[in-house]
Amino acid sequence: MALIISCVCHFALIILILLAAMCSFSGIILFLYCYDALDPNGNITVTFDILQWTSDGYVARVTIQNNYQYRHVDKPGWELGWTWAKNEVIWSMAGAIATQQGNCSSFKSQIPHTCRRDPLVVDLMPDAAPENKSGGCCHGGLIGAYAINPLKSFSFFEITVGNLESNTPGYKPLNLTLMAPGPGYTCGLLVDTNPTVWSVIGGRREEQTFRTWKSTCTYSSYLANRTPVCCVSLSTFYNPTITSCPECSCGCKRAEQNTTSCIREDYISTQSGFLSNPDIVKCTNHMCPLQVHWHFKNNYRDHWRVKLTISNYNYKRNYSDWNVLVQHPGFSQSVTTFSFNSTMLPTVGITDEVALFWGIEYYNRELSNANERQLGSVTTEILLKKDSKSFTLSNGWAFPRRIYFNGESCQMPLPDTFPMLPNGSSNRKTVHRYFILPFLIYLTFKTLVVWL
Ligand SMILES: *[C@@H]1O[C@H](CO)[C@@H](O)[C@H](O)[C@H]1NC(C)=O
Ligand SMILES: *[C@@H]1O[C@H](CO)[C@@H](O)[C@H](O)[C@H]1NC(C)=O
Ligand SMILES: *[C@@H]1O[C@H](CO)[C@@H](O)[C@H](O)[C@H]1NC(C)=O
Ligand SMILES: *[C@@H]1O[C@H](CO)[C@@H](O)[C@H](O)[C@H]1NC(C)=O
Ligand SMILES: *[C@@H]1O[C@H](CO)[C@@H](O)[C@H](O)[C@H]1NC(C)=O
Ligand SMILES: *[C@@H]1O[C@H](CO)[C@@H](O)[C@H](O)[C@H]1NC(C)=O
Ligand SMILES: *[C@@H]1O[C@H](CO)[C@@H](O)[C@H](O)[C@H]1NC(C)=O
Ligand SMILES: *[C@@H]1O[C@H](CO)[C@@H](O)[C@H](O)[C@H]1NC(C)=O
Repeated sequence: MALIISCVCHFALIILILLAAMCSFSGIILFLYCYDALDPNGNITVTFDILQWTSDGYVARVTIQNNYQYRHVDKPGWELGWTWAKNEVIWSMAGAIATQQGNCSSFKSQIPHTCRRDPLVVDLMPDAAPENKSGGCCHGGLIGAYAINPLKSFSFFEITVGNLESNTPGYKPLNLTLMAPGPGYTCGLLVDTNPTVWSVIGGRREEQTFRTWKSTCTYSSYLANRTPVCCVSLSTFYNPTITSCPECSCGCKRAEQNTTSCIREDYISTQSGFLSNPDIVKCTNHMCPLQVHWHFKNNYRDHWRVKLTISNYNYKRNYSDWNVLVQHPGFSQSVTTFSFNSTMLPTVGITDEVALFWGIEYYNRELSNANERQLGSVTTEILLKKDSKSFTLSNGWAFPRRIYFNGESCQMPLPDTFPMLPNGSSNRKTVHRYFILPFLIYLTFKTLVVWL
């Protein structure tokens, strides 16, 4: 019996490892749905809170809450759309606007803000007139990542909905769509949930909404149809060889010998037309718009020091509020980051620690574009305490397992190209711990042995 259980466990483990491997090569195996183990609860929640009934409809507050730890809504901001179940119109709106008024020709005395059956709503700019604002609005559609600033992780607006029968129960909008920005998000149906409660009079009384509808939207980079946007290169103080980004990490095009800039076609086809503009990136062997470089700089008695550099190869694109996520077992010890802001993220079911880095305001929160002379770049040194039990120079331990830029996974070099220790100190070839093939063979072998 024990033998059988052991066997089943090993097979389950093999399948798990295979799945994990497939997920990490999600660029190849696109049809496999891979949820992000580093942010398992990540989602954007859209909530319709009915605050008040009117003679022909209701007043609702719509909240877009970003629960993603390290994924934010970047320029040019979110676009929320839905389809009305009945003949609703939006009489007025505060904190956002519908992009089209639609056909309001059947209204005479009062003209609605929009009569479209499928309104598309966008945020206002911070300079909007005060009478058109509502609290928590008007950031030009930008929403921060939850782990970086929970106070900037949401956006809300108010709508006055009408043209329904009197004493209407209200009808849930259908087919919610969220562009944040561009495609990638899929929203579920709006469902009735417990009413939202908030406290008034200094917390001595609670008030609640009449009805609350919620929908959860999740991101899939497969749906966003992105080629990778970044790649990782590595170097060490003990080996002069630099492990560069894997060739064509972000897709290659045959370039003219004498051109200095390449035009990387973004495969995103959007209705808004914004992202269909080609990104012009500096020509490199990896063709990535962004590169993250991890340099193992010093090895002290109790500490080790890493230099982390993020380079922008885009000629026409700045990244404000960028963030970089690094998965590495060394972060279990105390970590000092000199020129970036950082935090550790909670992880469930992952043995390595995960650290999130972002820029410091007025210093390097903006990753500027490249020009003819230099790349845009931000850099920091990180001092990590040594854990004598785990710290090692061999087997690629000192290199990150995974790196994300703005929530998009970066292409890692293959483990057998990692910088090697000099021949004197170790005669073992560098083997990444995720180099699963030998492990699989070992497991299969072990399983067979146990079986026999
Ligand atoms: C969405 O995120 C919130 C906050 O992390 C979490 O409580 C909730 O369960 C998530 N919803 C789904 C459907 O994953
Ligand atoms: C606008 O709506 C009215 C009535 O709902 C309809 O008669 C008219 O044809 C519509 N106009 C257009 C341009 O669709
Ligand atoms: C405020 O909103 C009203 C109605 O939607 C609109 O007519 C007006 O132009 C807006 N004001 C500004 C400054 O945008
Ligand atoms: C909602 O979307 C589905 C699938 O795209 C479509 O079949 C359906 O007609 C839509 N419903 C409305 C009310 O537009
Ligand atoms: C590359 O150089 C050749 C000769 O120097 C020239 O004829 C050609 O136009 C150049 N191509 C581009 C894209 O500049
Ligand atoms: C990027 O930012 C720099 C500095 O703020 C600015 O000079 C440059 O014009 C910006 N470039 C783009 C493409 O927005
Ligand atoms: C680091 O980020 C936190 C949260 O966004 C912020 O409150 C703090 O001021 C930042 N620190 C620096 C030095 O920018
Ligand atoms: C290490 O040894 C290998 C073969 O054993 C050799 O090809 C390589 O050049 C040596 N590297 C150094 C830095 O001596």
